[in-house]
Amino acid sequence: MDGGSWWRDGVLYQIYPRSFADSNGDGIGDLPGITSKLDYLQWLGIDGLWLSPTMPSPNLDWGYDVLDFCGVHPELGTMDDLDRLVREAADRNIRVLLDLVPNHTSDLHEWFIDSKRSRSSDHRDWYIWRDPKPDGSPPNNWLSVFTGPAWTFDEGTGQYHLHNFLPQQPDLDWWNDDVRDAFDAVLRFWYERGVAGFRIDVAHGIVKDRELRDNLPATPEDHPRVKLIGQQQNYNLNRPEVHDVLKRWRAVSDEYSPQRVLVGETLVLDLERWAAFYGSGTDELNLAFNFPFIFAPLDAREMSEVVATTEQLLPVEAWPVWTGTNHDTRRFPTRWCNDDPARVRCAMMILLTLRGTPFLYNGDEIGMPDTHMSPEQVLDPVKIRTEDGLGRDPGRTPMHWSPEPGAGFTGPDTEPWLPFGDYGACNVAGQRNDPDSMLNFTRDLIALRRRLSELPRGSYKPLNCPEGVWAWRRGDDVTVAVNLSDLNQDIPDMDGNIAIGTDRARDGETVTGSLVLAEWEGVIITNRPSTG
Ligand code: GLC
Ligand code: CA
Repeated sequence: MDGGSWWRDGVLYQIYPRSFADSNGDGIGDLPGITSKLDYLQWLGIDGLWLSPTMPSPNLDWGYDVLDFCGVHPELGTMDDLDRLVREAADRNIRVLLDLVPNHTSDLHEWFIDSKRSRSSDHRDWYIWRDPKPDGSPPNNWLSVFTGPAWTFDEGTGQYHLHNFLPQQPDLDWWNDDVRDAFDAVLRFWYERGVAGFRIDVAHGIVKDRELRDNLPATPEDHPRVKLIGQQQNYNLNRPEVHDVLKRWRAVSDEYSPQRVLVGETLVLDLERWAAFYGSGTDELNLAFNFPFIFAPLDAREMSEVVATTEQLLPVEAWPVWTGTNHDTRRFPTRWCNDDPARVRCAMMILLTLRGTPFLYNGDEIGMPDTHMSPEQVLDPVKIRTEDGLGRDPGRTPMHWSPEPGAGFTGPDTEPWLPFGDYGACNVAGQRNDPDSMLNFTRDLIALRRRLSELPRGSYKPLNCPEGVWAWRRGDDVTVAVNLSDLNQDIPDMDGNIAIGTDRARDGETVTGSLVLAEWEGVIITNRPSTG
């Protein structure tokens, strides 16, 4: 049992490289830019970084259409820049995870170019090619996650290729051992360079039904996301055989060190199926992103139910992970909190005090909201399937470092690749010197995790409390209570000292007998005398 791994105790931080920091003034964030912010990340208390894809890509899906799994995108820098980032991060005790995209490649990847050349080319069966039905239509009814049929016809060889995302993102055939071997080599390539692990894209979906059976239609009982797609994705994704591949990667990882970590984008909405991605608890993914939690509203009953079920389903040796934002979901300060600062603090307190590894997304720490933009400014290929039709870009715009022109992200006269939000109102520099800011609140919560071992390690026990309030104990000595309602609430049986409150004026307050929380207020109470 690896009870003390850095990734269990630590706080991880997702960086969207194109939007983090631009070192050469071309309006695009890059690897030297990230390196230049390592002191900041160390100051914040971050233990590990997940970088969204850094590999060469034609960027039809912004890096998730990979040209070369062992390269670095020239817009982001060079292999030397990546090595330097990993080295300088290690000097500050920060590990670096890369994004592995095994479900598909770019259609310009040399494997696919060869595959498409002829029915007998070497890489033909690295991808999924099938004959049309007798009437010329696609081989089955599968729909792309990005809308439309999941099959595109190739005139040259007279067959369709499968793509669960864009037509330019052909799916690899994970029944082919050559594909499996090729990815083992990719993992090894990066592990040799000192990378600490991978976030695995579409981890639930890379293996397809061997017989390519038709998906069943969505039913009224299905999750709204399934209804939106119109069919249950039980054959084009979500096959049980995917677990064999994940186990194989875990074995490769553990060969290097049990401190390497694999965290999966396990986008399944059923927690029972989700828990299976941990295998026995020691032989599959180290961490699996919990989408039912991400998609739950900031509501005491709904969130605490997801957490209770998660706690109940996980194998003893498995470890939860909590996230509010990623590059696909939009930012939690807007999505969960309607840009209300009190709610944003409650949400951050929850993320950093549940039992499990928190993943913050760049900007979460300053409560950065989604960026308002017009449809013409959107570059995301997936504009549909969001209420406002803007897709994922409002959550992907450049980081706000300072109130000066360029936001401290790029040069003062440079047009960033995606538009800035209101960086005058919300930025790192402005918040860093204000002890009462969101940034210092986040930093103080992270520091508290280091001071009180119950926060990273203690058990989770929900407490009875009034409707709208969520309270739980960590270990024996720490209690967290958040009022996710519009009413003042009186919570009985609370004793100790407030270590940190969302209202910082309450830090250090003694609580005896009962605790009164204002609307959208949260506190962490310890039974020990406060050490300041
Ligand atoms: C994952 C990524 C998303 C991407 C998709 C296809 O869901 O997080 O950004 O578009 O895979 O690669
Ligand atoms: Ca740049």
